[in-house]
Amino acid sequence: MKCIEVPKKYAERTIKLLRALRIMDNEHIITRKDDHVLIPVKKEPPMNNELSSIPMRLIICSPPVKKKKEVKVPAHDIIGDIAVVRENVLEYMSREEIVEALRTTYPRIRTIYLKKGTEGVFRVAELELLWGVDDPSTIHKEYGLRLKVDLRRAYYNPRLSEEHRRIAENAGDGESIFDLFAGIGGFAIHIASLHKATVLMNDLNPYAVRLGVENILLNKKRIKGTIIPLRIDARLALKYFRTESFDRVIANIPRSTHLFEKIYWYLLRSKGMLHLYFLSSISERDEFIKRYFARWKLTGIRKVIDYAPYVFIWRADLVKP
Ligand SMILES: C[S@@+](CC[C@H](N)C(=O)[O-])C[C@H]1O[C@@H](n2cnc3c(N)ncnc32)[C@H](O)[C@@H]1O
Repeated sequence: MKCIEVPKKYAERTIKLLRALRIMDNEHIITRKDDHVLIPVKKEPPMNNELSSIPMRLIICSPPVKKKKEVKVPAHDIIGDIAVVRENVLEYMSREEIVEALRTTYPRIRTIYLKKGTEGVFRVAELELLWGVDDPSTIHKEYGLRLKVDLRRAYYNPRLSEEHRRIAENAGDGESIFDLFAGIGGFAIHIASLHKATVLMNDLNPYAVRLGVENILLNKKRIKGTIIPLRIDARLALKYFRTESFDRVIANIPRSTHLFEKIYWYLLRSKGMLHLYFLSSISERDEFIKRYFARWKLTGIRKVIDYAPYVFIWRADLVKP
């Protein structure tokens, strides 16, 4: 690496001139050697009039590397062009620091929200605007599929993207599938993009159903299966469907799924597959299945996402014997 060695009294002027010429190497630190200063440069400077009047020389040097200012980025989700941070981040960062860190890391985001919790049975986000345009609707991509979301109107969690894919890869052509708590349709869109299956995409929240329909349209070129949007209370499914009508049921209502066990049993054919999402610590996980789903055959269980300290959302794959 090269430096300009210049007597101390000329240092300031030389730095100014080298900066103006964009020759200074800003990744390295300017150092002192006796009564001289060593200025790291990217290349030999041209000897224009001003510089040639300064008594300096080009030497080989090894100045220390500048430490980059570390930006502490809080835990966050990026959903389309929106960044969302949870309220607990405020325990170690101010609102201003959160905004600065996220804007530096993601120069293209247009909105930053603080998520204060989730409200009601529809599990919609309670959001405080930290920066940008107050518009919680955006398009988020999962595996190239475009999903329209509206965070204040319908549940959406980008951390489920992998799970949407895993279930879709597990399903097959010709299947008849009931997603009882579909939200904006992540599972249904993924499944129908991979298979010629028929998926009932149900949610009680009318906004979720409307977004689900928009998502069918947004992905119409990639969908090869059939998606049927539906808005019923899952508790009444017994009333509208014949028993044993489905090959696969997706039950993504982790906090109260045990209350629907009879519905799942009723809807699935014998040997049909139930993907059951539930909330539990590691120590209580197996007990939950034994207590509420004893008559099912457990074929697999995995952790899906973190929910709270020591509490996770799990997926159990259960076959109706
Ligand atoms: C965890 S979210 C579903 C997320 C969705 N599966 C996904 O992958 O994005 C649970 C959903 O259940 C819906 N819900 C709550 N109670 C319901 C009921 N009784 N019948 C149908 N849907 C219900 C909520 O509106 C919410 O969208």
